[in-house]
Amino acid sequence: MSRHTHLATALLCIGLMAMSTACGTGRHSTGTPDNWVTITNGQLWLTPEGDTVQAHAPGFLRQGNTWYMVGEDRGKEYNPDVNLYSSTDLQTWHFVKKIIRNGVTSPDLGTKRMIERAKILYNAKTKRYVVWCHWEASNYGASEAACFSSDRIDGDYRLEWSGRPMGIKSRDCNVFVDNDGTAYFIATTEENQHLGLFRLSDNYLSAAAHTQLFPGQQREAPAIVRLGNRYFMFSSACTGWAPNQCKLSWTDDLHRGWSDLEPIGDSKAFRTQPAAILEIRGTRATTYLYVGDRWKDPTLAETKTIMFPVTFTDTSCDFQYRDSFQINFKTGEWREKR
Ligand code: DGJ
Repeated sequence: MSRHTHLATALLCIGLMAMSTACGTGRHSTGTPDNWVTITNGQLWLTPEGDTVQAHAPGFLRQGNTWYMVGEDRGKEYNPDVNLYSSTDLQTWHFVKKIIRNGVTSPDLGTKRMIERAKILYNAKTKRYVVWCHWEASNYGASEAACFSSDRIDGDYRLEWSGRPMGIKSRDCNVFVDNDGTAYFIATTEENQHLGLFRLSDNYLSAAAHTQLFPGQQREAPAIVRLGNRYFMFSSACTGWAPNQCKLSWTDDLHRGWSDLEPIGDSKAFRTQPAAILEIRGTRATTYLYVGDRWKDPTLAETKTIMFPVTFTDTSCDFQYRDSFQINFKTGEWREKR
């Protein structure tokens, strides 16, 4: 190697070191040329600008190759706003907009609301983006939900409705859209006793029908996914911010026949609580990613978003935490980190 080549190599190395130091504070995509992206758990997510990603108990919507994520801005810890981010690799999250400002977006509802578990849907008929969330008062006595909508994902969301869905006390929540476009709001109901499955109206802006599930079983943080004709649900017990055992149930009919709750993973869901199940469908495989919150780690504002692949069998699920793993958004495959 000539002296010039040595010099050039040294300069390149210094340049690369400087780049990696500059990038070292964020959570940036570590993609390889063959499309494998490494997902690493346990750290705060930072935007490319170095700001903490504040979107806890997130909800997701995929449009083309872009993932949108909405969630609680716990920067102020309590009385959260709702933020919207976008990403193409579930790793590098760009701040798009604060879509719900506590006390501002709907001033008539006051400034002291706890807006939790915001989830986003797209209604193909009305071409509107719809956000459902838990809309709570400080002692969790309100037990209400709220629904917002906008004609653009990054538009001005307006309050459509708030209250107890169909008059039923409702807390922790999620949404699920079935293959035929029917959407459901699923919430922990009646003082955390049951889960309520609320079929939404065609425009997704109101609850149209209610089915009580898991009576008296005190489940929260529900997340549903459909594989073929079978629905699987993850849920937690109700222990505030403290993690507890994640349980799995399955059925072939959303409204009835849910199996007994089966404990999966370790006794604390690897210090998480379910928020979502993402489907990564590729040319060779479909991978399901569990998304959960590691609350108060150590503060609410520093709550971590944890993701790991889960594998469903006919009636169960391999639910195993990984510090890191690799995912290929093209083929849909995942593998251990190399
Ligand atoms: C557990 C719920 O899942 C969270 O969304 C939040 O409501 C906390 N409880 C509050 O203690």
